[in-house]
Amino acid sequence: MIATDRLVLRNWQASDLEPWAALNADHEVMAHFPALLGADEAAAMLAANQARITDNGWGLWAVERRDDGAFLGFTGLMPLRESNPLAPGVEIGWRFARHAWGAGYASEAARGALAFGFERLALPEIVAFTATGNLRSQAVMDRIGMARREDLDFDHPALPRGHVLERHVVWVARAPH
Ligand SMILES: CC(C)(COP(=O)(O)OP(=O)(O)OC[C@H]1O[C@@H](n2cnc3c(N)ncnc32)[C@H](O)[C@@H]1OP(=O)(O)O)[C@@H](O)C(=O)NCCC(=O)NCCS
Repeated sequence: MIATDRLVLRNWQASDLEPWAALNADHEVMAHFPALLGADEAAAMLAANQARITDNGWGLWAVERRDDGAFLGFTGLMPLRESNPLAPGVEIGWRFARHAWGAGYASEAARGALAFGFERLALPEIVAFTATGNLRSQAVMDRIGMARREDLDFDHPALPRGHVLERHVVWVARAPH
């Protein structure tokens, strides 16, 4: 678990399923993904995230607002898939419900996750990437102090050639000395 000023990054629980499924069915939240996630896919991803955190002690954490206990989305760290051109390595990612945008929650949670990666996991670097059009996600990368790395940009291997989301832009955070 990671606590920040306004948030807790924790393992997933059954009550997250409803708001988690709802945000994955929201066109605005999923605008830069190939498709919405159905309820079954959302449940499977919740279970997979939960199992990884239980087994390893880290992963894509559920983000809860400390004030009222509301589930807002996720932020966390994931080993890169072997098929990713940046592999091997660890990426940071985030996805929040629309009502939770514009309050600095994603950046606050991401700073907590980066600190965990550097201090607890002793990672030398953490990467972030997204589709070229996902400017809100890129703004988070800038805000939390990651460095833009144009030389590492790549075409996402899971997307068909020429897909509008194919090109991905890359940011990197290096462990503080
Ligand atoms: C990407 C995403 C997490 C960004 O969320 P966000 O709320 O814009 O990001 P932040 O938490 O950094 O919040 C920054 C905004 O909060 C505002 N803000 C308000 N109070 C703040 C505070 N106390 N501290 C910091 N920022 C604050 C900032 O001014 C900024 O507003 P702006 O967007 O109008 O410039 C969100 O858009 C999302 O979930 N998108 C869909 C999923 C997705 O694409 N994920 C990434 C895939 S790679």
